[in-house]
Amino acid sequence: MRHPATRLTVRAPAKLNLSLEVLGRHADGYHELCTLFQAVDLSDELHAEPAVDLTLTVEGDAPPGEENLVLRAAHMLAPHAGGRGARMHLRKRIPSGAGLGGGSSDAAAALLALNRLWEVGLGRPQLAAMARALGADVPFFLHSGAALGTGRGDVIEPLPDLPARWFVVSVPPFSLPEKTARVFRELRAEEYTDGARTLRLATMVRGGGSPEQGDLYNGLRGATLRAFADLGPYLAALERVAGQEWALSGAGPACYALAASREEAEDLALCVKSMPGVRYVTSAASGGARW
Ligand code: C5P
Repeated sequence: MRHPATRLTVRAPAKLNLSLEVLGRHADGYHELCTLFQAVDLSDELHAEPAVDLTLTVEGDAPPGEENLVLRAAHMLAPHAGGRGARMHLRKRIPSGAGLGGGSSDAAAALLALNRLWEVGLGRPQLAAMARALGADVPFFLHSGAALGTGRGDVIEPLPDLPARWFVVSVPPFSLPEKTARVFRELRAEEYTDGARTLRLATMVRGGGSPEQGDLYNGLRGATLRAFADLGPYLAALERVAGQEWALSGAGPACYALAASREEAEDLALCVKSMPGVRYVTSAASGGARW
């Protein structure tokens, strides 16, 4: 018999969208997506231990209170645990509102951690239903690794790990309230595509292949550039300085470039270090092992 956990630490990785296509818009306002997610080593860390009340403290750039998805996830799971509490501490490293999925990943980490800490024993389908209610990107983070996302981006098919891949992520100092909703509102019908490009990449990954920079695609790029007035010139400067293309993750404004090795990624990061914002050199993270 497994003993109840007394204290847990869960890794909450960031994600990049290696490909993201918007297929259309549903009557409820949500958009139909076809996206290839890749988790990366850049991670937040969530600590949880049993307590009478349910509390969250935060170290770094994220809201501490009820608007934090970690607490919303905990309140969703608590009725299944007979009103038990937990003391949680979130150590943020992933910049918020950047298109890297940090808040969604934290929420998934809370579901995984508390399901174990409270011995709730919910299975993946039940956790996925809760994750979906917390946000479209949250179900991906129950798996992590590489995955194909369809529906709202919340129907997840895990894919095999990419062969070793490195990324340089550059996060410009721009923010927008309600960013994701605003970017989707900027989207035009002529920017919808059929998902074929992303499905081709998924087939390549299933066969053990790995995308190249030229395969990266983001159907939200035009909408994101319209929403963030300063992002177009930022991307152009980044590409001029680096001498190569950069892709956009999710609804931005984080930009990233692929590299074949850690050395190549570090050289590229050095090359663009004069650009405003923050830079990360990070590698593709496997699914599974989070504890
Ligand atoms: O699900 P989440 O809360 O992350 O979504 C934020 C907003 O992004 C939604 O309110 C919606 O406006 C937009 N969105 C969308 N289609 C998706 C995912 C998000 O229109 N598939």
